[in-house]
Amino acid sequence: MSENDNECNYLDAMVGLHLGDCFEIIPLIPDKSIDMILTDPPYEFISKDPIGGGFMKNENKKHLVNIKESFGMSFNPENFLNSIKRIMKKYNLYVFTNKNLLCKYIDFAESNDYKWDILVWLKPNPVPIFNGHYLIDKEYIVYIRETGATFNTNLNYNNYFTYYFHPAGGGSKDTKHPTEKQIGLITRFAMISSNIDDIVLDPFMGSGTTGVACKNLKRRFIGIEKDEKYFEIAKRRIENHKPQENLF
Ligand SMILES: C[S@@+](CC[C@H](N)C(=O)[O-])C[C@H]1O[C@@H](n2cnc3c(N)ncnc32)[C@H](O)[C@@H]1O
Repeated sequence: MSENDNECNYLDAMVGLHLGDCFEIIPLIPDKSIDMILTDPPYEFISKDPIGGGFMKNENKKHLVNIKESFGMSFNPENFLNSIKRIMKKYNLYVFTNKNLLCKYIDFAESNDYKWDILVWLKPNPVPIFNGHYLIDKEYIVYIRETGATFNTNLNYNNYFTYYFHPAGGGSKDTKHPTEKQIGLITRFAMISSNIDDIVLDPFMGSGTTGVACKNLKRRFIGIEKDEKYFEIAKRRIENHKPQENLF
């Protein structure tokens, strides 16, 4: 990082964390400096009932409502997708999304002549509400890749399925983030699409799951989170995490 150095909390030589709005911090990141972006923007509020019926705790609902207000109901994947083009060595992105935004990601990839795929996290334990729709038992991840971006092919065959089968809520219970992602899934993406010492960016860091995976895999990590409470949780979580090797 350059001008923004004093706002970056370096935990060590491998991890730099920013408290702030990624749309303000991304422009400060040097050209072609990032090997991979693995992120989970707050897309939930796009749907009519973003918060998941009456099953989410009030404090978590409040957090998502705050996010909704700060985005003004208009998270626009195109702005985000274009803003990261300049900073990546080769376009190499994994982004969680809901079904409503899938087309926007695919249109972007097609119009830039990037390869893309849709990966799915299948959850065998969905909340049993039917209410005129199928169970909410999966999450989509769009993978967008420019020719030449890393794609390691030497891992165990099981890592290359386009679906990942794991119960929801498998995260570390002490982060208290309402949408914490499954560490095994994040680890798989980072193993396949980056190498040791590569720089991985998560501009919507939340509780820091991508940072924990990077620590396990010896990737350098830059995390950005705008909510101070989650920033502190992520910082503590990554700092206290003891790297686990040979996970797969
Ligand atoms: C869906 S959560 C990410 C959860 C994360 N994957 C985890 O496992 O904990 C999205 C996060 O992005 C943060 N956020 C929203 N808008 C942001 C922005 N403009 N810049 C940085 N962070 C933002 C929210 O506060 C929220 O914690």
